[in-house]
Amino acid sequence: MPLVNSRDLFRKAYEGGYAIGAFNVNNMEIVQAITEAGKIENAPLILQVSAGARKYAKHVYLMKLMEAAVLDTDLPIVVHLDHGPDFETCKSCIDGGFTSVMIDGSHLDFEANIAVTKRVVDYAHERDITVEGELGRLAGIEDAVNVSTDDAAFTDPDQVVEFVERTGVDSLAIAIGTSHGAFKFKGEPRLRFDILEKVSAKLPGFPIVLHGASSVIPEYVDMINRYGGDMPGAQGVPESMLRQAAKSAVCKINIDSDLRLVFTGELRKYLAEHPGHFDPRQYLTPVRDSLREMVRHKIVHVLGCDGKAAE
Ligand code: G3H
Ligand code: 13P
Ligand code: ZN
Repeated sequence: MPLVNSRDLFRKAYEGGYAIGAFNVNNMEIVQAITEAGKIENAPLILQVSAGARKYAKHVYLMKLMEAAVLDTDLPIVVHLDHGPDFETCKSCIDGGFTSVMIDGSHLDFEANIAVTKRVVDYAHERDITVEGELGRLAGIEDAVNVSTDDAAFTDPDQVVEFVERTGVDSLAIAIGTSHGAFKFKGEPRLRFDILEKVSAKLPGFPIVLHGASSVIPEYVDMINRYGGDMPGAQGVPESMLRQAAKSAVCKINIDSDLRLVFTGELRKYLAEHPGHFDPRQYLTPVRDSLREMVRHKIVHVLGCDGKAAE
């Protein structure tokens, strides 16, 4: 099966009451771990690439890894640009073989966000590429410890219909209290499910995206701290909340920090326990194995998209 855009996958996810995992990829081991997990669980996959990942690994290398993932499986796989910063980056990814892009105009005012999003949609739809927009602003990108609870950052449900109609986006990322990184809440985790409900009521059948949705798995934070790391106070979105979101209009759940934590924890552990080893194949094997198991866990116990690849 060739790479696919997200349209059909989201329609099925919406109707089926599950979500698809959008996992950030930066290198071969991460791509292999996610692909292997998808294969074992027969799950559709979104492999997403940030501007930073493109800069780190180069577009062509990542694209060839995606092609390998497709050759290696019969899964529906979307290659998606995460947080596209401008029209030019989105165009470059579309021209370079991505099947879906996000244009992140969330830092712009409403009219400017609509203008840049619509420009990307017009270019993308002519080529059958799907587009994710964002309305509302997630905290935590620059200052991960200081998670804002300011209402102004949340998506305003009264704006979503106009935004979707005027831009033509295929999915919408909203801000309901999640944030990027490993330090999401200062106290009790709290998501504004009331905002999600209002948004979904205004956009029946329309796929919603949740960014900043890592659980910051305590087991791996502990592992990092045990083997020389320093991450006191790391805290993520509880799995119960993510499961609740996955059953609703949320069709795409973004996960990056959990991959980073597993990678770092296992690497620290291996190197601490094997001080004489210096073969990357040795220390990256447990890393890749644990990444695969973590992604399988997400697919089955958080997203509910196991077995959905063939439907
Ligand atoms: O939302 C951001 C993702 O975690 C990607 O992070 O821009 O450092 O690659 P990055
Ligand atoms: P996390 O930092 O919670 O993994 O969020 C990732 C994300 O939203 C990528 O766009
Ligand atoms: Zn994000």
